[in-house]
Amino acid sequence: MKELSMHILDIATNSVRAGASQIFITVHEDIINNAFRFDIEDNGKGIPDDILRTIKDPFTTSRTLRKVGLGIPLLDENCRLCDGFLEITSLVGRGTTLKSMMVYDHIDRPPMGDIVNTMIGLMTSNENIDICYRHYYNENSFEISTKALQDELEDVPLTSINVIQWLREYLSESIDALRQ
Ligand SMILES: Nc1ncnc2c1ncn2[C@@H]1O[C@H](COP(=O)(O)OP(=O)(O)OP(=O)(O)O)[C@@H](O)[C@H]1O
Ligand SMILES: [Mg+2]
Repeated sequence: MKELSMHILDIATNSVRAGASQIFITVHEDIINNAFRFDIEDNGKGIPDDILRTIKDPFTTSRTLRKVGLGIPLLDENCRLCDGFLEITSLVGRGTTLKSMMVYDHIDRPPMGDIVNTMIGLMTSNENIDICYRHYYNENSFEISTKALQDELEDVPLTSINVIQWLREYLSESIDALRQ
């Protein structure tokens, strides 16, 4: 079974490929309302209407090496399987917003997976993109933005081993602290 962190990586990779300079990733573990949601918003090139209409169909892809795109159809299927939904809105030249919801305690809901390493991978392989990650657990939340972090770091690259180590601790501890 697919993990939620893998879906997040898939969808954020679409935003990277769309040339976004800013990507907002929000995860919301809303236990009170028994909902797991994640939203990804980018300022990339947007999705033309004809593609948007059939985007949940695996044969919609701008890939050239293979003729099917699976990221969105698989997420859509998992959302529906978990009594939720996937909603995608987009404006060409402005960007794309994807909102997904699943019932939190649904038996088929995939596990969170390794969100810490997923975020580290995304952040360190896209140094020119401001990636803003916000994680909610009920009303508690924390956020991190790679642009803000890079400003603090000045000349030290995000990819330096010390920064990666710090990121790993910061993300794990912050997520753990939310659940307290
Ligand atoms: N954020 C986005 N901005 C612009 N276009 C997008 C975005 N997300 C998806 N698309 C378009 O929708 C198509 C389908 O996306 P989907 O993730 O389902 O498949 P894929 O990315 O083509 O392949 P895969 O996810 O299997 O690697 C993409 O090929 C792309 O043309
Ligand atoms: Mg994709």
